[in-house]
Amino acid sequence: MRNLDRKLVAGNWKMNLLRQDAQWLMAEIIGMLADEESRDVRVAIIPSFVHIGALAQQASADKRFGIGAQNCSDKISGAYTGEVSASMINSVGGKYIIIGHSERRAYFNESNEQLLNKTKLTLSEKLTPIFCCGELLADRNSENYFEIVKQQLTNSLFELSVDDFKNTVIAYEPVWAIGTGLTASPDQAQEMHAFIRKLVADKYGADIADQTTILYGGSCNEKNAKELFSLPDVDGGLIGGAALKSRSFIEIIKALP
Ligand code: PGA
Repeated sequence: MRNLDRKLVAGNWKMNLLRQDAQWLMAEIIGMLADEESRDVRVAIIPSFVHIGALAQQASADKRFGIGAQNCSDKISGAYTGEVSASMINSVGGKYIIIGHSERRAYFNESNEQLLNKTKLTLSEKLTPIFCCGELLADRNSENYFEIVKQQLTNSLFELSVDDFKNTVIAYEPVWAIGTGLTASPDQAQEMHAFIRKLVADKYGADIADQTTILYGGSCNEKNAKELFSLPDVDGGLIGGAALKSRSFIEIIKALP
């Protein structure tokens, strides 16, 4: 049975857009979604840290939107020059934090232990972590992809208590599909999402698994979103490139069943 509360579309703006452009894009998205009054959806907009406060204010009148961060520190506070804490993100109106995006795992060597700390700090602020997992092309080609994703979840996210876990969102993002124009086929996406949901069920029970939001990410766009989002275990998307174009992003939101 599908749980409609599971649905979410999140736009990861990555390191793009200066303040004015960020506010224009936000205004366009708010305006276009306003025309879709009856659509009961959850939308996360995830800009650079420096825009979170302004965008949170800008979007505050429409409860469908939550603004988020692309990362946070694994420390609470203190002498960590250049870091941004989960509590700071909360204090400027952030609602979501992406944890363990493959770009952070690859370029910033984030470890499972750090990702678990980040997730716990996010939850302690009552924000929603969007925890990313996904295999490299080499893992897919060597048919090792289930094991890789299982390890990514088991070695960090599944250390959470059940009460914490039920407030998290998982994003499956095959690394070979991110920014490449190669999308997982519906069969590949459904197979992995069902596998992840089964892992959650084995660890936390079937009820929790049934309520867990599992997003697909990796070259999801306005053309393929409808098919991907209609899969039984795909609850929406984590969108990169296509989230930077208001029309594409709105079409993706509208693709939620
Ligand atoms: P993409 O990025 O949609 O541009 O492939 C997705 C992501 O990195 O979250």
